[in-house]
Amino acid sequence: MFNLVLFGPPGSGKGTQSENIVTTYNLQHISTGDLLRDEVSRHTPLGTEARKYMDQGMLVPDEVVIGMISSKIDDIPDARGFVFDGFPRTRTQAEALDKLLEFKHTKIHLVLSLEVPEQELIKRLVTRGETSGRSDDTEDVITKRIKEYHLKTQPVANYYNAYGKLEPVTGSHSIADTFKALSKHINKYILPVS
Ligand code: AP5
Ligand code: MG
Repeated sequence: MFNLVLFGPPGSGKGTQSENIVTTYNLQHISTGDLLRDEVSRHTPLGTEARKYMDQGMLVPDEVVIGMISSKIDDIPDARGFVFDGFPRTRTQAEALDKLLEFKHTKIHLVLSLEVPEQELIKRLVTRGETSGRSDDTEDVITKRIKEYHLKTQPVANYYNAYGKLEPVTGSHSIADTFKALSKHINKYILPVS
């Protein structure tokens, strides 16, 4: 099994690159943002609760997200591996993920951290907001999401760096070039299937 965390600030390309990675390496994509937006669109109790935070650019409470991830991993017992996109976002989430994977006799092998200058992040997300319909793609909320990232999520990089698992990757080149750079790291663990 091979498990990857795709790490980086809002707009750094986690979702875009995850799609290419899961197809190329036959891995399962787990995006907590997508899972939460699905709950919101279905008006579930979890979605209604989560929306209060998401609309303000704040992180949803750890216990909500950890519970969601746990059942998602259990849903796919024979996976070749997982790509975690937008998770873990706090140290508590990172520790919980380690425990969940340990229980399944596996671990996080690699954390690829997409690095993109802040002005480029804002430009990408404002542009996406013109068509995405995402309630958090307004300039005001984007600024809050980036602030929340620096405050609560950036420390997760140190957590993985201490285990020697963190690799920074430039995320400001084209989508194809960024994918090539990510693949160089992944190829040290598994080979492409397509
Ligand atoms: P989430 O959905 O995870 O959003 P995010 O981290 O803010 O990041 P985005 O999805 O906006 O960006 P991305 O890095 O995926 O970039 P993308 O590929 O889309 O979270 C949303 C909310 O849910 C959070 O604020 C929080 O409330 C809640 N939440 C989610 N997970 C949580 C957790 N674990 N704990 C607590 N709360 C949680 O690219 C962005 C744009 O740029 C696209 O338009 C794309 O086409 C473009 N683009 C991508 N790459 C390039 C490139 N190389 N060149 C030019 N354009 C590019
Ligand atoms: Mg995303």
